[in-house]
Amino acid sequence: MLGRLNHVAIAVPDLTAATAIYRDTLGAIVSAPQPLPEHGVTVVFVELPNTKIELLEPLGADSPIAKFLEKNAQGGMHHICYEVEDILAARDQLQASGARVLGDGEPKIGAHGKPVLFLHPKDFVGTLVELEQI
Ligand code: CO
Repeated sequence: MLGRLNHVAIAVPDLTAATAIYRDTLGAIVSAPQPLPEHGVTVVFVELPNTKIELLEPLGADSPIAKFLEKNAQGGMHHICYEVEDILAARDQLQASGARVLGDGEPKIGAHGKPVLFLHPKDFVGTLVELEQI
């Protein structure tokens, strides 16, 4: 079911400071900040040779990462995203095996314009998992 690792997302309280760490200290190629109001985050993409890191800062009043940052004030790894070929087939197979899909179970269009779903961290060794159809 799983394809490539698409990205690792890190929630951060200060996107400017986090971007500077990746760009200046680590020497990575970073994008300009992109506000994604429909997802409640502003994102900076860090381009690596084999994958991406996404730095996420809360945007708006009810950002989905606000609670995470309350518990992790300095930021931290928020989720990992795996690619799948057929997101509906993956969802159906996972649900049939008892895994919980977050929200209403219907894929939403994610930060890269492709359908995504999130899986309950308690079913996946404590890690929030995003699936993205490629
Ligand atoms: Co993501």
